[in-house]
Amino acid sequence: MALKNRKILLGVTGSIAVHKAVDLARRLTEQGASVHVVMTDAAKKFVTPLSFEVASQNKVHSDMFADPLSHITLAADADIVVVAPASANSIGKFAGGIADDLLSTCMLSVTGKALLAPAMNWRMYENGVLQRNLQFLISRGMLQVGPERGSLACGEEAIGRMADVPEILEAIRAALSEQDFSGRKIVVTAGPTREYIDPVRFISNRSSGKMGFAIARAAMRRGATVTLVSGPAQVNPPCRVEFIAVETAAAMREAVLGKLHDCAVLIMTAAVADFSPLRREDKKVDKSDSLTLNLKKTPDILAEIGAMKQRPLLVGFSAETGADLSRAKRKRKEKGADLMVFNNVESPGSGFDVDTNEITIIEADNVTTLPLMTKDEAADALLDRVSTFIS
Ligand code: C5P
Repeated sequence: MALKNRKILLGVTGSIAVHKAVDLARRLTEQGASVHVVMTDAAKKFVTPLSFEVASQNKVHSDMFADPLSHITLAADADIVVVAPASANSIGKFAGGIADDLLSTCMLSVTGKALLAPAMNWRMYENGVLQRNLQFLISRGMLQVGPERGSLACGEEAIGRMADVPEILEAIRAALSEQDFSGRKIVVTAGPTREYIDPVRFISNRSSGKMGFAIARAAMRRGATVTLVSGPAQVNPPCRVEFIAVETAAAMREAVLGKLHDCAVLIMTAAVADFSPLRREDKKVDKSDSLTLNLKKTPDILAEIGAMKQRPLLVGFSAETGADLSRAKRKRKEKGADLMVFNNVESPGSGFDVDTNEITIIEADNVTTLPLMTKDEAADALLDRVSTFIS
């Protein structure tokens, strides 16, 4: 879900977390969104409007009377209104229908999407009045991100810290995405596995984890409840996704089987190591001129689940060297997968480490070859196909 050309109204209220909102405005603008900021008087005590004007490249609004219609047009023109930080006072005003400044007046005129990122001391956050106000707004369709537990302005370690900027960005993307996977449970595997020879050496496959992480992120944005089971990957886990870190194929198998209940779709992008040493030595093996390893095949997780009577929709990945689809087509059948995604790791811009991929989606009676695109776009394109199977 790209933020390019999306119109965002950012409401900023009085909290020490205002400095994070400057970064949020900057990141949204960098990603091509058109950002308009409304500041309350209290917010201006923490940061000057100039900071937001530089970050958003737009004039900051705060005077209700500067333009008599701004309280209607600002909200009506926006794809989403985001209030970050949302103070206890502002949440109380929104819930009570008080419209005594530009932001609270805008919030009363919002008919579209609105997201609140509360920030306050834990005593205020846990106060029943604040909770009642927040729950009322949520029952009316407003969305909430955070707050988190962490170090508060008062020095205490507790709930109340505004969600971090990447998490707010994810929440905005999710709010703007079509929720076609809402209520669905999706499990994604990613990254390589490690099969240990001894405590310091292992056999592994090449995989950055980027494709699987992009799929997990895209599914989460589209409303799915996502579990990402990953071997040691080179990228950070996405926000708002259950993350299970594993190392070996056996551990990945166990984690995936443990998550199959109620799972609608299993997407296995993991580059599972094909062989594992027959025995793992307890101590580091002495170096010698040569070493003979006895290997056994790792459990084929995809094939095992493919053979089950009751199973989720199964999507496998087949990384190949060369453009020939026949091996991927054969694997789809042999492993019992519904879809097999082929990618030629030798093709420029495809495969390991890079942020782009060129994939071909193989189904029983359909083959779709997609052009080179970002892994985020490829993830959405795959989910578009997947959604036709589960709706
Ligand atoms: O046979 P190959 O490794 O090419 O198959 C790729 C697909 O099978 C991927 O979806 C991968 O995650 C899955 N796989 C598996 N267990 C293995 C090997 C591969 O689930 N031991």
